[in-house]
Amino acid sequence: MAKIVSIHSFRGGTGKSNVTANLATWIAKSGYRVGIVDTDIQSPGIHVPFKLDETQVKYTLNDYLWGRCSIDAAVYDVSAVLSTGRSWFGNRGKLYLIPSSIKTGEISRILREGYDARSLNDGFRALIQKLQLDYLFIDTHPGINEETLLSVIISDVLVVILRPDKQDYQGTAVTIDVARKLEVPKMLLVVNKALPSLNFEALRQQIQTSYQAPVAGILPVCEEMFQLASSDIFCLRHPDHAWSKEIHAIAAQVQANQSSGSRLAYQSR
Ligand SMILES: Nc1ncnc2c1ncn2[C@@H]1O[C@H](COP(=O)(O)OP(=O)(O)O)[C@@H](O)[C@H]1O
Ligand SMILES: [Mg+2]
Repeated sequence: MAKIVSIHSFRGGTGKSNVTANLATWIAKSGYRVGIVDTDIQSPGIHVPFKLDETQVKYTLNDYLWGRCSIDAAVYDVSAVLSTGRSWFGNRGKLYLIPSSIKTGEISRILREGYDARSLNDGFRALIQKLQLDYLFIDTHPGINEETLLSVIISDVLVVILRPDKQDYQGTAVTIDVARKLEVPKMLLVVNKALPSLNFEALRQQIQTSYQAPVAGILPVCEEMFQLASSDIFCLRHPDHAWSKEIHAIAAQVQANQSSGSRLAYQSR
């Protein structure tokens, strides 16, 4: 049974795509079959740390949503790209990305015309079956919109990312409220871009008390991340960095308490 994990934040630029890419890579590296769908159709970005450029991409999620191709045609094996010269993923581990289009016309068309949300759902189901996934990660668009609601509804785990910033605090309360109403089985909070000089334990307690939800990890703001500028997967480039170690701890919590299967009972194998 596959586990569906949505990564959300109320505001943009919180680190959703980098956290998604790193959690998914780390889990795939431990021998699991992992897929990532970029549902941030308005501002896609997760293809960047996976070094997937326009010339390599024939079909995207947009083409699938418009009925121009099957979902399989928009799948890219990024474990093969990342593994060049190395064997990061062992025999079983696999990492697949379904990118969203970065073409202006295709982004504006989907904003103008929309799409049938049910086809996104069907696409997730087909991906889990065809790729025999253990985990499907959904990198979402910030704020509350139709895709967010859909991904929250079908998620086994919702990871909500926030920065230690008052604007994030308020918006995160809205997201958590929606997630509770939609009865997400497991919700984990992740703080990103925390100043290393902060007292992380006090911050954890404060956030857990405010939201009555567990904080799975606090990721420090760091210069190495700025330097990397999304050009690679951070935890592969800096495996011993505090940021990477916190990602490992968050991944363990995403994986823990394997529920009886996904909420839509998707059969992966
Ligand atoms: N802990 C961090 N320290 C420094 N820069 C970070 C950190 N996390 C993310 N970033 C940077 O913040 C920017 C936004 O990250 P991204 O993952 O694209 O966020 P989102 O998907 O939420 O918009 C990127 O330039 C990324 O390199
Ligand atoms: Mg993003």
